[in-house]
Formats: sequence, C-alpha cells, structure tokens
Amino acid sequence: MIYSKINATGSYLPERILSNKDLEKSLDTTDEWIVSRTGIKERHIIGDDETTSDMAYKAALDALKSSTINPSEIDLIIVATTTPDKVFPSTACSVQNKLNIGECPAFDIQAVCSGFIYALSIADKFIKTGAKKNILVIGADAMSRITDYTDRSNAILWGDGAGAVILTATDKPGILSTHIHSEGKYESMLHVPRSNNPSKKDTIEMQGNQVFKMAVNTLDRIVDETLNANNLMKSDIDWLVPHQANIRILEATAKKLEMPMDKVVVTLDKHGNTSAASIPLALDYGVKSGKIKSGETILMEAFGGGFTWGSALIKY
Ligand code: ACO
Repeated sequence: MIYSKINATGSYLPERILSNKDLEKSLDTTDEWIVSRTGIKERHIIGDDETTSDMAYKAALDALKSSTINPSEIDLIIVATTTPDKVFPSTACSVQNKLNIGECPAFDIQAVCSGFIYALSIADKFIKTGAKKNILVIGADAMSRITDYTDRSNAILWGDGAGAVILTATDKPGILSTHIHSEGKYESMLHVPRSNNPSKKDTIEMQGNQVFKMAVNTLDRIVDETLNANNLMKSDIDWLVPHQANIRILEATAKKLEMPMDKVVVTLDKHGNTSAASIPLALDYGVKSGKIKSGETILMEAFGGGFTWGSALIKY
C-alpha cells in the first residue's frame, strides 16, 4: 500500500506588521475588543510590490530547504488560494516558473479557508494511486488585497502569508484520511460579491455572527466523522492544528476533543486569519518550534467560504 507522508514544511510571512494599536488609529475599535472577541493581536501585510506567488515561492523554498528532495523531483504543484496573482494563469504555474522546474502539472484550488485541506486531500489521492511521488502543496493568501479597511468587523480579522508542505510517497502512513465537504447554499454569508459584475464591491462581506455559529457546529461534526473513519478516540489525537479564524472557535473545537489548549497549535494571535495559508503556517510553526514530533497524530480542520469545510488526520 502506498501512503503519502509530510516530508517537510515551510512558511513565509511578509515583513510589515499591522497591530491592533495601528487599527485603533483608523477604526472605531480597541485592542481589548479585538483580543477578547477574536484572540488576534497583530497580522502580517503583503508589500506593495509583492504577490501571492512570491509568498508561495518563498514558503516552498523554505520547505525544500528542510526536505530530502531536490526541486527537480517535484512532480506536481498545487496552490490553494483565494487571492491569485492573476485571473490566469494559475498561481501554481507562477510558482513553478520561479522554482525553475519544468513540465510537471501545476494548478490552483479555490476553497477559501478550507483550501489547504482540499489541496492536501487531492495530493494524497495522486500519491495513493501511484500517479505522483513528490507533491508540493501550498496555501497562500493576500487577504489584505480583498479587505475593506473601513469595515471594522473585517479589517481586524485578516492577514497575509504562505505555508507549504512536501508530500512524499512511502510505505507507512502518513496521511491517515482526509474529509472534504461544501454547501453552496450559504454562499452569500461569506463572500466577495464582485465576481463578473463590475458594479459590485470586490472586498469581503461576512455575516460574522452567523458564520461563527455555523463554523462551531460544522467543525464538531467533522471531528466525529474523522475519528469514526479511523476508529480512533479523542484521546488518540496528540495535536490539533486548526484553521486560525477566531480563538473562540478553536476553544470550542478543543473542548469537543476534550483537549487542553496547550495541545492546540495557535498562531492566530500573530498571524490573524490568513485563509488557505493558516493551517500550513501553524503546522510549520508547530514542527519548527519542536512541539510536534515524529510519530504523533495530528488533526487538521478548516471551515470557510462556500461554505466549505474539511479535515485531515496525519501521523507525522
Ligand atoms: N470593534 C468594536 N466593535 C465591533 C468590532 C470591532 N472591530 N466589530 C464589530 N463590532 C461591534 C458590532 O458592530 C456590534 O455592535 P452592535 O451590537 O452595536 O451592533 C458588536 O460589536 C457585536 O457584533 P458581533 O458581530 O455580534 O460580534 P462578534 O462577537 O460575533 O464578533 C467577529 C465579530 C469577530 C467577526 C466574529 O463574529 C467572528 O469571528 N466570526 C467568525 C468569522 C470567521 O471565522 N470567519 C472566517 C471563517 S471562514 C474563513 O476563514 C474564510
């Protein structure tokens, strides 16, 4: 049986930091309100001359540096993003060009904050079928480019960055299972309305309170689905590496898992919500800080626009 295993992780955060104190200067908000309602203290903001593919490329280089493979051995590139450089070609093709590796397939996945889980799920299938051996999976987003900084309920949440993993074929698990879902009827609760209509805004609109409740309930269900699919108990999970949207959502999922918060990798305070980048950024932090160790069992989960949601259970 072929499994896919995380060979290496990498990340990149842009230099500029936007703190809650900075936001206090332009918005009717306070550091206390933001920290108590979201857990966020600061977020990184992409430079004017930077692009999503620049961030994705730097995260990929960081992962390659820690890996056992050469760039030329990568046989598929998948980038999860909601903020591609261009309408086309894909951000994955731009990353491929920057890495100077030719001919392997490269494509983007759009599932907003669940994008990385979707990309991981697809990559896992390519490896399990024997079609590919070394896949570069990236989550990268420049959410500041689609945020209205006069809207206090959105401006406080979003940040920019990129995280990457290299998945390699092995004979031992690896990725134990992935689970992905979507429910398109909730489209208007969290969206960027413009699409093909130039008269509409091209910044995020969100019914925050409703999204919050849906996220908590849905993540409860995906935890059960993942544990049942693997015949595991809550106590078998060593680490929760969740999508970083709101500390109160993370606390609710940890409570569902009967897991103390020191077993949850939290980067939200420093990164904000970086959409598809948030899980690989948190994973890289968990690995490089020495928290996550080889052989441990990790549950990743995400919920985002669509609505989309998903999970991945991994033996690291
Ligand atoms: N500062 C001060 N007051 C604020 C701010 C702010 N930055 N933002 C909103 N408020 C006010 C509102 O105007 C409202 O005032 P009112 O009662 O006078 O009308 C009051 O605070 C309460 O507003 P709520 O929206 O009910 O506040 P809530 O506690 O729900 O927090 C928040 C808002 C932080 C957006 C929260 O709903 C949330 O995090 N939702 C989930 C968002 C999320 O996770 N989205 C992404 C998931 S999917 C993805 O990642 C793409």
